Amino acid sequence: MRRKHLKGSLAVFPGSFDPITNGHLDIVDRGLAVFDRVRMAILMNSEKEPLFSVQERVALIQGAYRGNPRVEVDTFSGLLVDYANRVGASVIIRGLRAISDFEYEFQMALMNRRLNPRIETVFMMPAESYSYVSSRLVKEVFQLGGRVSDLVPPVVEKRLSEKYGTPLKAGRARRKK
Ligand code: PNS
Repeated sequence: MRRKHLKGSLAVFPGSFDPITNGHLDIVDRGLAVFDRVRMAILMNSEKEPLFSVQERVALIQGAYRGNPRVEVDTFSGLLVDYANRVGASVIIRGLRAISDFEYEFQMALMNRRLNPRIETVFMMPAESYSYVSSRLVKEVFQLGGRVSDLVPPVVEKRLSEKYGTPLKAGRARRKK
């Protein structure tokens, strides 16, 4: 069923995206069913030591979306609510995979609301098949020789193999819904 999205609306989907996974893509698809545009916003200067540079992560997202005009990619530093306000977004999208995500996400959403009550956080649940998928596990599994082809877009798998100097595993499954 085709759903109508809110005309002219912009939602920010923030994260580290190191790298983007099919779970993230699933959330973006769900966001596009509700909002006109979804802007993936990569946090710069995070305390985490990333595998991919911010520029590489931008390129991976662009590669995964190949010019879909409703999906935008940007980087930000400082407070997320200030960024959202600056770009005219009144909604922050976050994915919620499991109860274990909830406490951190709940804290962040309430802190963001305190910082700017006009910006609403919307939680979206990915397909169950992605409920265990995280960027961290994808990197670990790939590095240890496991197959991740049904968990990340092809462009990410290719870049992972270049980064780690490991050949791609044969066989590719399609993105699950
Ligand atoms: O994918 P991640 O690493 O879970 O994303 C975390 C992110 C980027 C959403 C969060 O760290 C963030 O919003 N950082 C920006 C700084 C900020 O606004 N901090 C206060 C939020 S409570």
